[in-house]
Amino acid sequence: MSRPCRVVVLISGSGSNLQTLIDRAADGRLPIHIVAVISNRADAYGLKRAARAGITTRVLSHRDYDSREQYDEALAALIDAQEPDLVVLAGFMRILSQGFVNRYHGRMLNIHPSLLPLFRGLHTHRRALEAGHTEHGCSVHFVTPDLDAGPVIVQARVPVLADDDETSLARRVQGQEHRIYPLAVAWFAQGRLRLGPDGILLDGHLLREPVQVRPDEDLPDEPA
Ligand code: GRF
Repeated sequence: MSRPCRVVVLISGSGSNLQTLIDRAADGRLPIHIVAVISNRADAYGLKRAARAGITTRVLSHRDYDSREQYDEALAALIDAQEPDLVVLAGFMRILSQGFVNRYHGRMLNIHPSLLPLFRGLHTHRRALEAGHTEHGCSVHFVTPDLDAGPVIVQARVPVLADDDETSLARRVQGQEHRIYPLAVAWFAQGRLRLGPDGILLDGHLLREPVQVRPDEDLPDEPA
């Protein structure tokens, strides 16, 4: 890609993953141009992060629409006006209609706070604790119409500690989210990552299993 990859980020809340992308784009480690941040909630703190970075922000409240399809149409119009190469879901708390998902097939990523296919949906940290798992983590995946079920690109695992509660476990997982999301976005922006008819292609090879990142591993895009 000769020009930097144009990215639209969708959020609903704090935007800590968005912040990581902003920071890495700013310091030149991520070859992307975040052209807009769109939130379905006016009070999302991530909007402040975007504004602080000089990024265009838009609020599109789902409350102003009668149906999911109508909202998603309006959202797609906002997104398409920015002519993005990639749509990044970063804590966008909406179920997406099939038409919307299909429109961005192969160019929409999501991060989910579990080791997919485990714990699709909400309250993943609580559910991992309740299930007595000794390992938990996060996954970046291409978005497909089934919720949290698209092909997984990369995962990071963290241990579940004996004294963990939901908050401490969430914090440890989020630390890893902030590592693997920029990594996957960088691969896409560099033209190394694609969704082909048979699955994910990374550097031209079919990815049979998600890439696994250890919590303490130096990543290619991180300073040693
Ligand atoms: C993250 O935990 C992510 O995995 C989930 O939503 C949360 C967003 O957090 N999809 P933030 O808004 O990026 O801080």
